[in-house]
Amino acid sequence: MYLTPQEEKMEAGEYGPAVQKSMEILVALGNIYNAEKLVNITSAQISGVSYKTIGDAGLEYLEDMAKDAKIIVPSTLNPAGVDLERRDLGFSDEFTKKQLKIIEAYRKMDITTTCTCTPYLVGNVPMKGDHVAWSESSAVAYVNSVIGAKTNREGGPGALSAAICGKTAEYGFHLDENRKANLIVEVETEIKGADYGALGYLVGKAVGDGVPYFKFKNTSSTNDLKSMGAALASSGAVALYHVENLTPEYKEALQGLETSDLEKISVDRAEINETREKLSTTSEKPDLICLGCPHASIDEIKNIASKVAGKQLKNELWVCTSIGVKAAADRMGYTNIIEKAGGKLVCDTCMVVAPIEELGFKVIGVDSAKAANYVPSMCGLDVVFDDFENMIDEE
Ligand code: F3S
Repeated sequence: MYLTPQEEKMEAGEYGPAVQKSMEILVALGNIYNAEKLVNITSAQISGVSYKTIGDAGLEYLEDMAKDAKIIVPSTLNPAGVDLERRDLGFSDEFTKKQLKIIEAYRKMDITTTCTCTPYLVGNVPMKGDHVAWSESSAVAYVNSVIGAKTNREGGPGALSAAICGKTAEYGFHLDENRKANLIVEVETEIKGADYGALGYLVGKAVGDGVPYFKFKNTSSTNDLKSMGAALASSGAVALYHVENLTPEYKEALQGLETSDLEKISVDRAEINETREKLSTTSEKPDLICLGCPHASIDEIKNIASKVAGKQLKNELWVCTSIGVKAAADRMGYTNIIEKAGGKLVCDTCMVVAPIEELGFKVIGVDSAKAANYVPSMCGLDVVFDDFENMIDEE
């Protein structure tokens, strides 16, 4: 892989050991994927944050890096294992202490510790065409597809190295030829709410790491696409999709292709309903409803507040979001409405990366197909997948 004279100096250690180690990782990745060169990035989103997923080995690695590493492009973190501020959720002191050490290591490297999988809602917003290095799979799907920036699904160390060097290897979705559609998905029914997650789950399984091109009967909001993209990236490995007449690269996606040569699948109402049913592992009522996968937007929180206003919920309710969106929800009075109904706005973490299995819950209710896919395997708990209003158990 070609390196500029400055990149060679970085690799040779002239900018210190953290830059050297990071450059070695980027060069190794570039060589594995046959990249011709490195490309400058405008932002990073870094996974490998929850103590539940990276453990002591990850903490040691980060504390070592934090001795002399500083990031040089705007960078944010993926969700952690706990809410960094509230202490009433029941997580152990031991876990919390280790988690806070991880956050401190990242903070020392100047990474903004917002801990969210929806950084594009709180300031980490690239422009169309920017090269970035993001690692959370749902955020990767969103930034590639809805924003039109360019990233591969980076691993945590790859994204951190990219943030430290301000560069990433130019391969995969950084190259325009790899951003074309390779499958057309005709959605034959109007869909809404949790249908988007079910559709994403269904199509993700069928396309693997392909680039699907969707044709919908109805318009879709950014919240719908965030939910669908998360599911596409969890049942499959989709990092980029296009939606006809909607997403920024939908025209380029088919340019130069014979659409008659592309594989086509169609999805009808019966398949969506069947997938919705399959995603639940039990028909019991959830004792905890956990919304905000990916982390909730202010519109979603407003909608949740309107559904619980004046009610007393029997189920526990967590609405996972970022501190930035919660600040807006506090100001708008939505937090107050949700708390009066017995719910909590939970920041910085989520039902999958928190050690939720230690809290005594048996059945988690989710409206996210990604969460429904991961809660049984990562937390060992039963899951109910449905729209929020169908899971509410009222006093
Ligand atoms: Fe985000 Fe956790 Fe879902 S990281 S996408 S809320 S599984």
